Amino acid sequence: ARRIIIDTDPGQDDAVAILLALASPELEVLGITAVAGNVPLPLTSRNARIVCELAGRTDIPVFAGCDAPMTRKLVTAEHVHGKTGLDGPELPEPVMPLQERHAVDFLIETLRAEPAGSVTLCPLGPLTNIATAFRRAPDIVERVQQIVLMGGAYFEVGNYTPAAEFNIYVDPEAAAEVFGAGIPLVVMPLDVTHKALVTKPRNEAIRALGTPVGKAVAEMTDFFERFDLEKYGSEGAPLHDPCVTAYLLAPEIFSGRHINVEIETTSELTLGMTVADWWGVSGRAPNATFIGDLDADAFFTLLTERLAKL
Ligand code: BDR
Ligand code: CA
Repeated sequence: ARRIIIDTDPGQDDAVAILLALASPELEVLGITAVAGNVPLPLTSRNARIVCELAGRTDIPVFAGCDAPMTRKLVTAEHVHGKTGLDGPELPEPVMPLQERHAVDFLIETLRAEPAGSVTLCPLGPLTNIATAFRRAPDIVERVQQIVLMGGAYFEVGNYTPAAEFNIYVDPEAAAEVFGAGIPLVVMPLDVTHKALVTKPRNEAIRALGTPVGKAVAEMTDFFERFDLEKYGSEGAPLHDPCVTAYLLAPEIFSGRHINVEIETTSELTLGMTVADWWGVSGRAPNATFIGDLDADAFFTLLTERLAKL
């Protein structure tokens, strides 16, 4: 199985991404590292454990990481995810413990201990934990197999500011560090996640699984959808973060371009913008595979089939 570390700020869509990974024998989740993002760190590290317990996977170690961006004040997204970050379903408080080690130490020690090129990082939130680990231990950078992350936008521009997607906006310095690290990088920007829409029939298919997981996921997306319906008038909520896990399972349902992507870290107006050279006009070397499209039906079939196994 492919070995991954999920770095996350759950978040209903993060929760679904984690469940999809835990339901898939092709993936071995070495650990989950929580970061501040959608809600503050005490809640994201709580929510990550709630999700593991929902999946019956109390064996997965969950670590708390950075509680604020590298240099900026934390901004959060309760307006999207609710007060707890996981509003919607009623799920019990977690009993499984949080690991004592800091998430950054876990990242560094795991990448040093495992064979080089054997661990893939899956960031689903602001990139603070990952960039902090790279700064503190530059030797681990070349040991990372690949990074597959959710963040940024090109044609879809921004969802948190007119120019920036939330994960990148929250910690643009961290994003710049990760995009500049020279690691094989696959990016799921809003361009693709806004095509992974949980329409009513798709959500009902998940609810109809009739399992605690199916019910919880349907209730999460019901909640999450409220915000997006008001905002975009779309057919359903974009399921951002699960695109990352789905890519690891079925890369053939995604398409994109290997291009240069730079992060804006200074402009007030466009802070956190992913300047994606889609048309190759800059002459700068490509550093990321920027995904633009997916087969949404195949994505939801995969997701529903896998969730049924939990
Ligand atoms: C991203 O921001 C968060 O609100 C979601 O969990 C996702 O990771 C989308 O912009
Ligand atoms: Ca997220």
